[in-house]
Amino acid sequence: MLLELSSIRKSFGGVHALLDGTLSVDPGQVHALVGENGAGKSTLMKIVAGMQRRDGGDMRWKGESVDFAEPAAAHRVGIHMVHQESLLAPHLTVAQNIFLGRERMSGIRLDRRGMIEAADDILQAHHFPVKGDWKVETLSPAQKQIVEICRALHGKSSLLIFDEPTSSLSDAEASEVFRTVHALREKGIGIIYITHRLVELEEIADRVTILRDGRTIHSGPAAEITTAEIVHHMVGRDISASMQRGKETPGETRLKVNLPDAEFELRAGEIVGMAGLIGAGRTEVCETIFGITPAGHGTVAVNGEPVDINSPSDAVAAGIALVTEDRQRTGLAVNLSIRTNTTLANLDALCTAEVVQVSKEKAVAEQLREKLQMQADSVEQKASELSGGNQQKIVIAKWMFRDTDIVLFDEPTRGIDVGAKAEVFALMDELAKQGKAILMVSSELPELLQVADRILVMREGELVAELPRETTQQEIMHHAVTQ
Ligand SMILES: Nc1ncnc2c1ncn2[C@@H]1O[C@H](COP(=O)(O)OP(=O)(O)OP(=O)(O)O)[C@@H](O)[C@H]1O
Ligand SMILES: [Mg+2]
Repeated sequence: MLLELSSIRKSFGGVHALLDGTLSVDPGQVHALVGENGAGKSTLMKIVAGMQRRDGGDMRWKGESVDFAEPAAAHRVGIHMVHQESLLAPHLTVAQNIFLGRERMSGIRLDRRGMIEAADDILQAHHFPVKGDWKVETLSPAQKQIVEICRALHGKSSLLIFDEPTSSLSDAEASEVFRTVHALREKGIGIIYITHRLVELEEIADRVTILRDGRTIHSGPAAEITTAEIVHHMVGRDISASMQRGKETPGETRLKVNLPDAEFELRAGEIVGMAGLIGAGRTEVCETIFGITPAGHGTVAVNGEPVDINSPSDAVAAGIALVTEDRQRTGLAVNLSIRTNTTLANLDALCTAEVVQVSKEKAVAEQLREKLQMQADSVEQKASELSGGNQQKIVIAKWMFRDTDIVLFDEPTRGIDVGAKAEVFALMDELAKQGKAILMVSSELPELLQVADRILVMREGELVAELPRETTQQEIMHHAVTQ
């Protein structure tokens, strides 16, 4: 037995993050760890990786009782973790991050060139679309995830922990991650794998442990449990059958986008999907429409009127919202409360004589927290203290409150659990029924096929296809991958 956790406990102030974290991992085993947002998955793994100390319970490594005071202590015995939120040094290059703390030297100097070449070798071996000399601050969340994975792979590990490694990857990159996981298993390395994409379990998991409200409520062989049973254990109830959108005739054109490499429109009542591989330019299109990056020669028209958008505030004034994929960097003020974050984009609506009415603000935040089933102590809790998926829900709440005619969702369900996903889709459906126009960028094709009325496909910065809702994953991939 490599790792044995029994009845691990951990509280933060009054919040019981873990009450009974129990699981064990053998060498050469892929152990999936699943549970709703806030169930305690990341906390349990941070304890194993030496980033948090446990309050109680027993942790054994190769039979011996251990307690890691810092990540370096876990590294020394061969435990590495790929974190859910990027912990990379933003101002350094990809290569510098991969080799951080174990730099290569050439004499008394850092061997920069050698490290970049070695990083490129690792990246290329996995067909990952990232280069060793790129600055990390310029990378998308998906690219950062890739760097985190390469960094962990580079260390000498006996146990590797992946906390949602594929949450912002598209299928093509995710299958590279699976290949890597299979190869590690062959080498006898133990793997703990956290994911909300339950379909992945069939592909990689040997064992499954399910956490609910901080307690292990099931742990057993993956072959002996169905996805439906897993979902039932996770949420304690059956999730209603997946939402099927009715077919409705779209209304007038809300948004018309005329960019050099992408021309399309969004009509009232429509949910338009956007597919593509990492780096295909989907986020760039959203950021251009939203005024984060200049439009160059392009034009954008809202409700038939050309608009000049040079900043996000211009975009919001024109009636456009962007639910961003990068909640840590652009979506949230992580040091502020749920209440403040929820109302940040629409304070005017809460003001009387230029004074924010806190009671109203509180009521709004409470309402949205309820609607999105955000798991938190109260709306006064700081965003940084919430689990990853619950942070994502705050970003959605913020734009729900702003109530714009056009909403761009960039990977809205990244890191969100099955139950909450159904809530987010229902919400998008409701917004569309109110006559709003919605663009949804997603790397999960089944999700796009379920929700979108039609699907745009981007490839290498260009819009290359528009497909009807009846299309297939194969058809989408055919257009998304370079011919
Ligand atoms: N630093 C902290 N301070 C206060 N509460 C915290 C802190 N870290 C985690 N929590 C709380 O502990 C609980 C478990 O959080 P954790 O991040 O382990 O969940 P998770 O299962 O990883 O969820 P997700 O799927 O959303 O990532 C949550 O209620 C969270 O709000
Ligand atoms: Mg987590």
